[in-house]
Parts: sequence; structure tokens; C-alpha cells
Amino acid sequence: MSDPRFLCAQGLAREAGKLMRRRFEDRSSFSLTFKGHQDFLTEVDGEVESFVKKRLAETFPSDTFIGEEGSREASDSVWIVDPIDGTSNFARGIPHFCISIAYLKDHKPNIGVIYDPMSDEMYAAVSGGGATLNGVPMKVSGMTDIRSATLEIGWNHRSGVPGYLSLLGRVMGLGAGTIRGGSGALGMAYVAAGRIDAYVEQHINSWDVLAGLLMVQEAGGHVSDFLAGEGLAKGNPILACTPALRRVLAETSGIGTPE
Ligand code: IPD
Repeated sequence: MSDPRFLCAQGLAREAGKLMRRRFEDRSSFSLTFKGHQDFLTEVDGEVESFVKKRLAETFPSDTFIGEEGSREASDSVWIVDPIDGTSNFARGIPHFCISIAYLKDHKPNIGVIYDPMSDEMYAAVSGGGATLNGVPMKVSGMTDIRSATLEIGWNHRSGVPGYLSLLGRVMGLGAGTIRGGSGALGMAYVAAGRIDAYVEQHINSWDVLAGLLMVQEAGGHVSDFLAGEGLAKGNPILACTPALRRVLAETSGIGTPE
């Protein structure tokens, strides 16, 4: 696929990944603050976002940009970037984080790129062109039985505790195994790669989820309608899973529709 935006997104993700890996490996080189309860912010988030934003503006001057840490300008040709998804892991020295870059054309996800610089894994999807991991086509797991499934259930301070515990209880009550890895974007990429069978979160932001959403779709999975209403600007719940788990998980989580 020689789409210039697709190539550019992958190149930028790799360059940004090098930058964040270098900073991660010398943790004394950056300072930490909190944006809110359990919501870390490092200097590196801003640094990576500025780098990506500047490059995109130079290369595609008429595109607009929405980033986790800064500008929020929607249009019919817009990039949505999370410079470091899994910031808490990054801040604590846990090597599970990534950059997530999505591009929306006419309000539909067109490109999704997620790069994990610690494992050197490049997840990439383009609308109608499939999804790949380091160039190899990805496919969702094909899991049909919730009792054998493993799900990631994301949590953040916006969702609150009671709702999360209730969802966790209901899902575990079905017999599913659960994890929480702390990077929604990598959770979505893992669903696309068939490593886990579903990703669920009661509220997630567009920069965390849009690249992975396209990946799951292109890898043959089901995703709830994240962009409904004000999803792009304000976030929404997300359910991403194998097609056969859609009914039980939509009914159990209340996210999306069973069919
Ligand atoms: C967070 C992570 C986390 C998810 C949250 C996100 P950040 O993003 O993706 O796994 O549960 O909803 O806000 O703060 O690491 O960029």
C-alpha cells in the first residue's frame, strides 16, 4: 500500500518510538506530574506529540490535528494521535506502551498505526486494505466460547470504581479470564492480532482507541460504534471482540448492540 499518509504514519511512529525508547531507558531524564487521579503525564508525552504534530503539518499542511496533550481541531481530514499510550507504564518503568496514530477521512477511520518501541512491533491498518503486524496479516482469534476467552477490561479515573467492579464481576461471572495492561491502544492491537479475544472499556478517548478500532475491523472483528454522538471529541465506551463474542459481551457490558 503506497498511500503517502499510510507510509508517513508508519515512518513517524517508528521515529517517535525511538525517541520515547531512548527517554524510557534513561528515566532520570524526564519529570513526572499527574493530570488527575491515577493519570500520569511525563515531559516525553508533550515532546513526542510536538514532534509528530510538526511533521504532519509540514507534510500535509491542509490536514488538522487532535492530540491527547494539545490541539483539538476536527475536520474531514484529521489526524488523531496519542503520543504515549500507557503513560503510567512508561512512567513506572514498565515496557508496555506505544504511540497510536489514526487518520480520519470524511469522519471515518482510514488509517491506524500503533507502534510498540520496546518489542519493535508495528501494527498497521488501512481501510479496506487489511491489518498487519510487522507486515504479516492479522486476524482476530476466532474465539467462540466466552468461558475460554481472555479479555482486557480497561479502567481510568473517568469510569469510576463501582461501574468497573460491576462490569468485571459480570464478565468474570461468565467464566472469562481478564487482564488490565494499562494501554488501551495495545489492548486493541492485541485483539486484532488474536492475542486476546476482546477489549472493553466504559469510557475511552478517541486518541487511545481509533487506530486500534480500524485494526480490529480490518482483522475481521466486531467494534461498537465509538464515533456515535460526540465520540471523537469527548470519548465513548468501546467493545472490540471476535464476531462470535459480540452478543454475549454487548448484552453483559451494555456497550453497543448484540447484532
Ligand atoms: C490510557 C490507557 C489506559 C486506558 C485509559 C487511557 P494514557 O491512556 O490507554 O489503558 O484504560 O482509558 O486513558 O493515559 O496512557 O494515554
